Amino acid sequence: MTWNRRHLLDLQSLSPQELTLILDTARHFKALGERPKKKVPALLGKTVINLFVEPSTRTRISFELAAVRLSADVINFTAEASSLKKGETLKDTIRNLEALQADFVILRHNASGAPHFLSRFAKAHIVNGGDGAHEHPTQGLLDTFTIREKKGRLDGLNVTILGDILYSRVARSNLWALVKLGANVTLCGPPTLVPKQLESFHPNVRVTWRLEEALRNADVINLLRIQHERQRVTMFPSTGEYAALFGLNPARMQWVKPDALIMHPGPINRGIEIESELADGPQSVILEQVTNGLAVRMAVLFLLNGGRSSELGHP
Ligand code: NCD
Repeated sequence: MTWNRRHLLDLQSLSPQELTLILDTARHFKALGERPKKKVPALLGKTVINLFVEPSTRTRISFELAAVRLSADVINFTAEASSLKKGETLKDTIRNLEALQADFVILRHNASGAPHFLSRFAKAHIVNGGDGAHEHPTQGLLDTFTIREKKGRLDGLNVTILGDILYSRVARSNLWALVKLGANVTLCGPPTLVPKQLESFHPNVRVTWRLEEALRNADVINLLRIQHERQRVTMFPSTGEYAALFGLNPARMQWVKPDALIMHPGPINRGIEIESELADGPQSVILEQVTNGLAVRMAVLFLLNGGRSSELGHP
C-alpha cells in the first residue's frame, strides 16, 4: 500500500488500507520518540505553517513538535494577531503564505469545509486541524491508534462515544475511522445532542440515551466536551444537570468493564463530563492519547511528503 494523496482533509474519504498505513507508520514514529535522539531529517528544508483561526493548545503544539522532529521549519500563525482580523480573506492569506514557499498548511477553522475549500487551489499540502463541527482527522487517528495499541485490535471492539456528538468534529472523525476498521460504535448523550438519525451513518453505529446501556459491554469510553462555542441555542438545562445524567463518576464505574479504557481528547472539564478521580485513574489513557498524537501527526506529515514506511525500519 502506498500513499498518494496530497492533503489530509477528513477520514470519511480514506479507505481502511489508507487508515491502516497511517497507523502503522505512526508506530515507527512512536518508537522514535522513545529514543534519546528524537529527530529525523525527513522534512529538512520544508516549511510548515500552523494556521489556527480557532483556539487550540494540544493540537497546535503537537503539529509544531511533529514538524520540528521531522526537521522542518515551522511558523505559527494565530488569527488574533493577523490580517484575517483586518478583513483579509482566507484565500488571500493562503496565497501569501504560498508566496513564502509554504509546503504544508495545517488549518484549524471554525467553518466546516474550510480545508476542503483551500485544497481546491492550494499548491501546499493542506492538513485539517479541525474544521467547525465537521472533522478532526488527526484526533480520530490518534484515538484509533491508542485503542489499537491498548487492545491489540479494532475489529469487533465496542466503543462508546459519550457527550456532545452533534457539534463534535472529534466524534465524526472517530466514527469514520472506527467503523471502517471494524469496530462497533455506540453514541450516547442527551437526545438534543445525539439525534437518532446518526444511526444512518453506518450499520455498526447505534444511538442510546441511556447511560447504563452505553457503558455496559463497552471496551472503550471516549468522553467529549460540551462544545458551548458551537451551540447557538441552549441544548440542555444546565451543566449540573448534564453531569448528573451523563457525567462519568466512580459510582457509574460499576457498569463498566474493569479493563475498559477511558479516553478524552481534551480539554477536560473536570466535574462535568468526568470526575477527576477517573481522569487521573488507572483506566484513563488521556495523556497517552497526547503522546500518540505526536506520532500520528509525524506519520501524516511524512506520508504527505512522499515518505515510505519501508524507509523507517522496524518499529
Ligand atoms: C478538540 C477540538 O478542538 O476539536 N480538542 C482537541 O483538538 N484536542 C475537542 C474539544 O475542543 O473539545
